[in-house]
Amino acid sequence: MSQDNLKKAAARQAFEYVESLLENDSIVGIGTGSTANFFIKELGAIAQKIEGTVASSEESAKRLKELNIPVFDLNSVGEVFVYVDGADESNEYLQLIKGGGAALTREKIIAAAATEFLCIADESKLVSILGTFPLPVEVIPMARSYVGRQIVKLGGDPVFRENCVTDNGNHILDIFNLEILDPRKLENELNQITGLVTSGLFAKRPADRLFLGTATGVKTIES
Ligand code: 5RP
Repeated sequence: MSQDNLKKAAARQAFEYVESLLENDSIVGIGTGSTANFFIKELGAIAQKIEGTVASSEESAKRLKELNIPVFDLNSVGEVFVYVDGADESNEYLQLIKGGGAALTREKIIAAAATEFLCIADESKLVSILGTFPLPVEVIPMARSYVGRQIVKLGGDPVFRENCVTDNGNHILDIFNLEILDPRKLENELNQITGLVTSGLFAKRPADRLFLGTATGVKTIES
């Protein structure tokens, strides 16, 4: 099965899970990326059954609106009952690397605000140690070089992502050559760097449930 079909199957399974829990006033958090896009398509079928969504990027908001699914500002909603998003890597504890699509800051905010965080991914994303995928961090533009030097002190090799401005007007550094043996510790260390807005390491708020598309079906892993 193609990688896209595995992503689609994971999104479908997550959709069925979400649908089974929905109430009329439910706010659903929506992630960013190709796997999240499969989930958005599924959600289109039940647009009338939910209150609406909050989106982690302008791109996802646009796709939702095209399907007539209401999109709200996070500040104007109460509980986000579930957040559904893809990942670039997940370990067995559902600690994630995210931000391949540069939406990591809004993704982390909605994940923090959500009661339940569902990750949807194809099987290539499950790893034993995080860090093969370069870890994205969002930085305030004027702090880019300073943040880069601090990251070098932590043992990483930061690379400026060319032609990328985030929805928040910031830049992305992708950190290569990290073997992330203690994700929570590294997330804490990155959080201390002035000018670094958000790291794509989701260890302090991991996913609660991972729907993993595999060649033998969708596996569900709970944290
Ligand atoms: C965007 C993300 C995505 O969830 C991540 O890059 C996975 O993308 P895809 O579903 O296309 O493989 O973190 O910032």
